[in-house]
Amino acid sequence: MILVTGGAGFIGANFVLDWLQIHSEPIINLDKLTYAGNLHNLASVMNGAGHHFVQGDIGDSSLVKELLAKHRPRAIVNFAAESHVDRSIHGPEDFIQTNVVGTFHLLAATREYWESLTGTEKTAFRFLHVSTDEVYGSLNANDPPFTETTPYAPNSPYSASKAASDHLVRAWHHTYGLPVLTTNCSNNYGPWQFPEKLIPLMILNALKGEPLPIYGDGLNVRDWLYVGDHCSAIRTVLENGTPGEVYNIGGWNEKTNLEVVHTLCTILDQACPSSAPHANLIQHIRDRAGHDRRYAIDARKIERELGWRPQESFETGIRKTVDWYLNNQDWINNILSGDYRQWVSRHYGSAA
Ligand code: NAD
Ligand code: TYD
Repeated sequence: MILVTGGAGFIGANFVLDWLQIHSEPIINLDKLTYAGNLHNLASVMNGAGHHFVQGDIGDSSLVKELLAKHRPRAIVNFAAESHVDRSIHGPEDFIQTNVVGTFHLLAATREYWESLTGTEKTAFRFLHVSTDEVYGSLNANDPPFTETTPYAPNSPYSASKAASDHLVRAWHHTYGLPVLTTNCSNNYGPWQFPEKLIPLMILNALKGEPLPIYGDGLNVRDWLYVGDHCSAIRTVLENGTPGEVYNIGGWNEKTNLEVVHTLCTILDQACPSSAPHANLIQHIRDRAGHDRRYAIDARKIERELGWRPQESFETGIRKTVDWYLNNQDWINNILSGDYRQWVSRHYGSAA
């Protein structure tokens, strides 16, 4: 079996659901269930034999050691993190605690477990650390995309904490020989994404007829990848990646924020013509502090060495995503809790 951390969040839940559709190999899912973790994401597998959910913290060494000794996973895929840049600006401490200190404790417990293994159990074991392109910093319009050797230059408390965790993972390989794999991926979108992030936030606001808040001039560029493609890339790296190596994952889909939001508005105009044109809801608000201008990923290494390429285009992925939000009103209602409303009024209330 494999141990997944953070498997009740956006990407982790997509990974768990996809995995259980494809594999018969069971998953232990360790998740603290912060505001971003949601067991509704996993409703279809919660009672299945292949999925064993444990609520807990990656920084809880005794719990992690107990899980490792009991279940003897052949691999760990570490999604657990605080993941939202704006929250990291308002309150960086949780980011240091989970992304840095938590990853350290997880690595230490994993090392102890891995050193206790012998034979093929030991040689086949893998620790896959899921990271982000944001560790490489910000690009200018004409800069080449990030490669695996681009120097780290994180700019937000979020990206700095992820960069620190990547360095720890690297050091655990270099110093102790732990067979690690690191993936640095671009912006994901798709089902079950918490509506604090750009795409689901814009879909939900547009459906409610509320303003679509664009930071600054809206010309910041992100490379967008459909979450199912990220999950398939992680499975590919887990099975065929070389320990100690880093793989960049991207969608070859650079878009400005305004392009993304206009695309969403056009799709929603077709789906909900009575409230069109949704683009009238766009409002430019004060820019994010330290807002990175452009991210772009060169994903040629994973294609060349492991044969992975994204399957979804932005056009097909974004339509699937809007359809999913239109068809999952119960999930949305459940998310729009007191905690979420408080975040929106704290953040956007003072942003304009
Ligand atoms: P998310 O915020 O939706 O989910 C994070 C999950 O981790 C939640 O279920 C939360 O409860 C859990 N968690 C948080 N702290 C924990 C702790 N201390 N112990 C155990 N569980 C904990 O995040 P996401 O968007 O699914 O991102 C998953 C991973 O992928 C993160 O490491 C993130 O940095 C990385 N990543 C995200 C993107 C993106 O666009 N969302 C892109 C590249 C990389
Ligand atoms: P986000 O989804 O938070 O991802 P990240 O900051 O990790 O790339 O934001 C994506 C882009 O959208 C980023 O340039 C910030 C911008 N943005 C807005 O313009 N308005 C918003 O309300 C949000 C949440 C993001």
